[in-house]
Amino acid sequence: MISFRSFSKSFGAQLAVDGLNLEVARGEVLALLGPNGSGKTTTLKAAAGLIVPSAGAVMLGEPPRSAQEPAAREVLSYLPQKVSFPDALTGREIVEFYRELRDLPGERVPKVMRFASLNGAGERMVGTYSGGMVQRLGLAVAMLPEAPVFLLDEPTAALDPDGLCAFDALVQHAREDGRAVLFTSHQLGDVERLADRFAILVGGRLVACLSASDLKDRLAERGVMRLRFAPVEGRDWTAEAVLPAVRPLAPAASWSGDELIVPGPASVRPRVLDLVRTLGIEVRGLTADEGQLGELYRELVAEAAPAHGEGAK
Ligand SMILES: Nc1ncnc2c1ncn2[C@@H]1O[C@H](COP(=O)(O)OP(=O)(O)OP(=O)(O)O)[C@@H](O)[C@H]1O
Ligand SMILES: [Mg+2]
Repeated sequence: MISFRSFSKSFGAQLAVDGLNLEVARGEVLALLGPNGSGKTTTLKAAAGLIVPSAGAVMLGEPPRSAQEPAAREVLSYLPQKVSFPDALTGREIVEFYRELRDLPGERVPKVMRFASLNGAGERMVGTYSGGMVQRLGLAVAMLPEAPVFLLDEPTAALDPDGLCAFDALVQHAREDGRAVLFTSHQLGDVERLADRFAILVGGRLVACLSASDLKDRLAERGVMRLRFAPVEGRDWTAEAVLPAVRPLAPAASWSGDELIVPGPASVRPRVLDLVRTLGIEVRGLTADEGQLGELYRELVAEAAPAHGEGAK
């Protein structure tokens, strides 16, 4: 549905996106992540046909058409990173304006107003809106056409929890209806909850692309289990007693205070538990944490950054 084919974009000497190959299929939600200035907005703008590639191509829809063709605009809906609307119009007038522009049925207006929770503010002038309300209005406008391709640039940046809930529902509907959604975000929690795949741009280059299940595996590998053991008179299971037995299963196991720390994938944990029980040790407490997307993201960016001159950012 969305296809970047060796897409590059330079602004003068500044190479904003460098040879991007990426596909977003029907019914797929892809999150584009990356540090400030890494080329995310440039990528979305190219898909929206707003900038011309310096090299390569961006294709949209089925059958694929160049994003540069006016006809390609009909298959897409684009939410810019910076939305701005005329201050002197009401939210409803703005939604109505875009509805007419795209020749859509009138029933779409109350639907998107409700969906973006703008009912209360729809009759007020946009000049009186808060930042989050303007963003909700932008989302309402983006949702109007029910297009097969959604391009959303930082859609959740200013949303409150209710707004986030509405956005989640929007993404869920889009997925169920077989649309392709490409969105950018710095809110890793939103990304992890919503996306089927995660692409990371650093210095204009795609440095990682993980599916939700790849991500789950990567995060599980980075998890950690902590065990506390019940004291038994006359027995000692300090580091010296327990670690040599556990390390063949979990080489990174260590002892901290009164806890045995077992880093590594969730799959190793039952075996460690079985083992400590066979040593005759009673487990008094167990906690397990999975890896955090934030940490993995920072590592992937840091690995890629020096090679792309992003280290100082
Ligand atoms: N119109 C332009 N003229 C010159 N340089 C530009 C232009 N648009 C973007 N750039 C440069 O291209 C690079 C990528 O910018 P882009 O806006 O795509 O980044 P981004 O990943 O969206 O960043 P952010 O997370 O801050 O929104 C940056 O170095 C930026 O300065
Ligand atoms: Mg941007």
